[in-house]
Amino acid sequence: MSEHLLDVQNLRVSFDTYAGEVQAVRGVSFYIDKGETLAIVGESGCGKSVSIQTVMGLLPMPPARIKEGHIYYEGKDLTTLTDKQMENYRGKEFSMIFQDSMTSLNPTMRVGRQMVEAILVHQKISREEAREHAISLLGKVGLPEPEKVFKRYPHTMSGGQRQRVMIAMAMACNPKILFADEPTTALDVTMQAQILDLMNSLKKEMGTSILLITHDLGVVAKMADRIAVMYAGKVVEYGDARQIFYNPCHPYTWGLLGAMPNLIQEVKSELYAIPGTPPDLYAPPKGCAFAARCPYAMGACLKADPPEYTCSDGHISRCWLMDKRAKEVTPPDGVPTLPRGGKEHE
Ligand SMILES: Nc1ncnc2c1ncn2[C@@H]1O[C@H](COP(=O)(O)OP(=O)(O)OP(=O)(O)O)[C@@H](O)[C@H]1O
Ligand SMILES: [Mg+2]
Repeated sequence: MSEHLLDVQNLRVSFDTYAGEVQAVRGVSFYIDKGETLAIVGESGCGKSVSIQTVMGLLPMPPARIKEGHIYYEGKDLTTLTDKQMENYRGKEFSMIFQDSMTSLNPTMRVGRQMVEAILVHQKISREEAREHAISLLGKVGLPEPEKVFKRYPHTMSGGQRQRVMIAMAMACNPKILFADEPTTALDVTMQAQILDLMNSLKKEMGTSILLITHDLGVVAKMADRIAVMYAGKVVEYGDARQIFYNPCHPYTWGLLGAMPNLIQEVKSELYAIPGTPPDLYAPPKGCAFAARCPYAMGACLKADPPEYTCSDGHISRCWLMDKRAKEVTPPDGVPTLPRGGKEHE
């Protein structure tokens, strides 16, 4: 039994394909508590979406298969539930917003009708009450003249407006966890900032937890209480936002931070780019999956996958550099960090 709202433990998910087994998620653990935002960051293809789609029960199985692990929600293991039982969670306990609102809104149905139908699935209220609730939500997400928006078709709206509609729909049943997979990637920076502010204020007002997936560390800095950095199907570093931004311990996180335009430091040298590409998940390497791209890789890194090391309370890194026997190294220029064991900035 877990004390966390959602507690994912050692989750392994593979796809069985003609070419072989794709080991998309290879032993991922994270948790989320009430009212907090966990951000999962990492390069394309590292298993972020597969991880949360597995939690929501959205992956078609087969070809996907949970090989190992548990997903505890309010103490109940969701991996033991049938598809039908999972339907009681989706939309009610969990909601999801996607990068592309056009793929999740029905283009042939007016916005209001879609919202009313979604509300009526989970709430025993009259159609008129559902209508009023939908209109009030459209107002709450900052859409002017919500009664008019209620009657519009999605294609007559801008990307930012549709994203707001999607958030209103996702919040309609007051979910405990909002899963947001790249929710602002398709929007311009002004609209992105407005949508992020909106998510933050809904989180405060309704006590919703947010599980945010993004590759944008600027978004993470604005939103996250805690951060899980994923690489090649594993969480390689995990900690609260201060620990990850001010004292990152994993060279992959250094790479991500070094590639981020200046947010924290006033003066910054050139952006650092991580060389190479992530490994093939059909045949992940025997040792650390990042070793081939890591400027600090040692012999040990090629031989065995590193265990989790504790950097500080609640902050872990899967890197052999954390081992007592490893040499002391300094992160690349421009990474807003101190070397291992350094003090935090104030
Ligand atoms: N249906 C599928 N069949 C086979 N492999 C798949 C399938 N869906 C995903 N994968 C593989 O699983 C791995 C993880 O994919 P996932 O979509 O979780 O990546 P991601 O971290 O969300 O990337 P992005 O940032 O591009 O969205 C990838 O290597 C991908 O090719
Ligand atoms: Mg994805």
